[in-house]
Amino acid sequence: MSQSWSASRRALLGGIAALPALGLSRPLFGAAAAEVAASADAKAALNVMEFEALARAALADKPAHFGYIATGADDDRTVAINHDAFAHYEIRSRRFVDVSHVDMSVQVFGTRWPTPVYLSAVSSQRAFHPEGEAATARAAASRSAQLMLSNVASTAQADVIKARGAPIWQQLYATNDWKVTEALVKRAEQLGCPAIALTVDNMPGRNNETLLRAMKADTRVCTTCHANNSHDPLHKAPAYAGLDVSRVTELSPTDMSWAFLDKLRRLVKVKLIVKGIVTGEDAALACEHGVDGIVVSNHGGRDEETLRATIDCLPEVVAAVKGRVPVFIDGGVRRGTDVFKALALGATGVGIGRPQVWGLAAFGQAGVESVLDIYARELKQIMRQAGTPDIRAIDASRVVRKAYA
Ligand code: GLV
Repeated sequence: MSQSWSASRRALLGGIAALPALGLSRPLFGAAAAEVAASADAKAALNVMEFEALARAALADKPAHFGYIATGADDDRTVAINHDAFAHYEIRSRRFVDVSHVDMSVQVFGTRWPTPVYLSAVSSQRAFHPEGEAATARAAASRSAQLMLSNVASTAQADVIKARGAPIWQQLYATNDWKVTEALVKRAEQLGCPAIALTVDNMPGRNNETLLRAMKADTRVCTTCHANNSHDPLHKAPAYAGLDVSRVTELSPTDMSWAFLDKLRRLVKVKLIVKGIVTGEDAALACEHGVDGIVVSNHGGRDEETLRATIDCLPEVVAAVKGRVPVFIDGGVRRGTDVFKALALGATGVGIGRPQVWGLAAFGQAGVESVLDIYARELKQIMRQAGTPDIRAIDASRVVRKAYA
């Protein structure tokens, strides 16, 4: 064992021991601290969940920042349920299939992705690593992964696009001021974004108790970074630079109706995705209102404690969409088998949120790359095992819902 490796391992162990109690309502997904310390190298992690504890250790001096990424709403139960619900589905493996070559690629809006996994929007990434979204974008570039950039990213869109070296999708918080919404859309389109993802699962006012507890455990002076102690993205996120945000009181307008979607549809010239649909009724309406794609999402359980996992919402959304537009999903995807199940239930692509940030916090670009590699490795493994040499073969016959789930 090299000296530097054992030194970093000791440092990590020490860091973990000194971690403040954040009062998480759910246990960390990651492995026990000692096991995690043994993987103090991004490539040594056995699964993406190990990165959660590594991220917590890396952010030990910034508990509020770890609390921000960890938090759900109320008791954080929907965060856990998003993941746990993948166990409601069993995989049906077929034998005597030639799986000597496995092709994980998918075609999305005319672009070929090497795997169905994309990086979903996660805000404020410089709170987790100094290189923030630029490091994530470089990792996405090195693995040719699609990146959906948060509207409240801490790095300017142009810099992220440069680091990615390819078009990115832009997530959109509509705001209650149409002029601002319009400017955000036009700017994204001018920067070459081929898709705008309107977020509809983030109404103002949410109860993030894990975050609030973590903020109490944080002894730093917030004003050092957050001007006027404001955590308000409007005055911090580069996406709003140069815009008059004085009339914006809500990042997601509380009066957002289908008429609003129609107005936005008329404005958006590129693909318009709606992110945050969880019912068949809304999925059918979204199609009727002309969207180009739907993301089944509950914002990672951060906004509403519905106790309903996105993977359990997916089948009714897919049934209602009837193949008119691609359906994507995020929330609780932690294994290649989860990706497989989502595809079998009708998803075209699968977004990952927290795991990308765990990787980023722990190792920067290398951590995000490792997270993407693990999903790809695990997906390939289960595709072989299940006798599905390509993504088309992962159809509805490949999963069955447990009789008792
Ligand atoms: C932002 O998208 C958040 O959930 O904090």
